Amino acid sequence: MCIVGIKVIQQGVGYLGKKAIELMLRKNIEVVAAIGHQSHIGEDIGKLAGLGEVGVKVTNDVQKVLENVKADVVSNCTGTTLLGVYEHIKPFIEAGINVVTMAEEFGYPWYRAPKLSKEIHTNAKANNVTVVGTGLNPGFSWDFIPIAYISACWRVDKIKARRVTDWSKTSPRRALLRFGKKPEEFRKGVVEGKIPLHTGFYECMHLLADSLNWKLDKIVVTWEMAVSKSFREAEFVTVQPGTTVGFKQVATGIVGGEARIVLELCPFVHPNLDEDGVESGETIWIEGEPSFTITTKWAPVEDGTPLCTVARLVNTLQSAIEAESGLLAVTDLPLTKTVRIREVVK
Ligand SMILES: NC(=O)c1ccc[n+]([C@@H]2O[C@H](COP(=O)([O-])OP(=O)(O)OC[C@H]3O[C@@H](n4cnc5c(N)ncnc54)[C@H](OP(=O)(O)O)[C@@H]3O)[C@@H](O)[C@H]2O)c1
Repeated sequence: MCIVGIKVIQQGVGYLGKKAIELMLRKNIEVVAAIGHQSHIGEDIGKLAGLGEVGVKVTNDVQKVLENVKADVVSNCTGTTLLGVYEHIKPFIEAGINVVTMAEEFGYPWYRAPKLSKEIHTNAKANNVTVVGTGLNPGFSWDFIPIAYISACWRVDKIKARRVTDWSKTSPRRALLRFGKKPEEFRKGVVEGKIPLHTGFYECMHLLADSLNWKLDKIVVTWEMAVSKSFREAEFVTVQPGTTVGFKQVATGIVGGEARIVLELCPFVHPNLDEDGVESGETIWIEGEPSFTITTKWAPVEDGTPLCTVARLVNTLQSAIEAESGLLAVTDLPLTKTVRIREVVK
């Protein structure tokens, strides 16, 4: 990965934002400013990332940053939704700074919000910047990986994917909202929109359908909760027997009246095959000619999800700087940015 001399503003210093700072500092990427909201204001970003002091302090004064700092790109880790995150990144777009965000709804925004997507695209074009969403899901597991295999098929009939993620060590804010809850409290929270389930199905479904030239008639998303029989202790959350330990969401994409894309997500705290019927990891089944089963297992115990999400973000920064302007889909950019021999030869 070749990332030379780029200047980055980190926006959002929550669980993944801090990890993004750590990775950028470890890769010697220059983080010229960090924007927070309420927490960590005034703290040194190096210390925040668990490394030594670097002399850059978290601020919530966007205007001051724009006046005092020159940057090529914003690394955004502030939220999930197109509208909410657009409000956060708009001042940077209008200051001519490219944006890479991990907000799921930026993975393929045209389906959910065509009008807003057009507005963001027009704004990005007018300011000659790229705006793109990336991450793990969307951004890797359910788009790039299956699309790589689809590109090696003569024919594809159906795609099914299952991800089981271990939430024992990740995103404390969302873990606390979701797990260790009484079943009724969880159900009510989801129905009222106070407990967020996974967002990103529509985006991945459309990226896949586009890659196959399939027209989706509709997408049906269902969910069910899992209640623990056992006590589970995790870094950020404790699960008592009789409270929520996970949930399962299934998105089914109907094409020509048939269920042809099925995406299943199971976030659990310490997923356990005997009790939950699932174990941490990812499997993709492609039925066609030929057919494939692709399995990803994380190294013992560790769930690589947060590390990979942040790596996808950081490893997209340079490509975003170099890409054409506008609102792009995650699959419009290469997976990595390397020194190309042909460019060196030139
Ligand atoms: N694409 C993917 O694969 C993928 C995977 C995982 C997560 N995500 C997305 O990544 C996001 C971040 O995850 P996380 O675990 O780091 O969440 P988090 O710990 O809740 O962090 C979010 C941070 O954003 C800050 N924030 C909110 N509004 C802001 C603003 N206007 N300016 C600056 N900072 C602001 C919050 O600050 P305060 O605490 O001070 O309010 C908080 O520190 C999630 O919302 C999720 O949707 C995407």
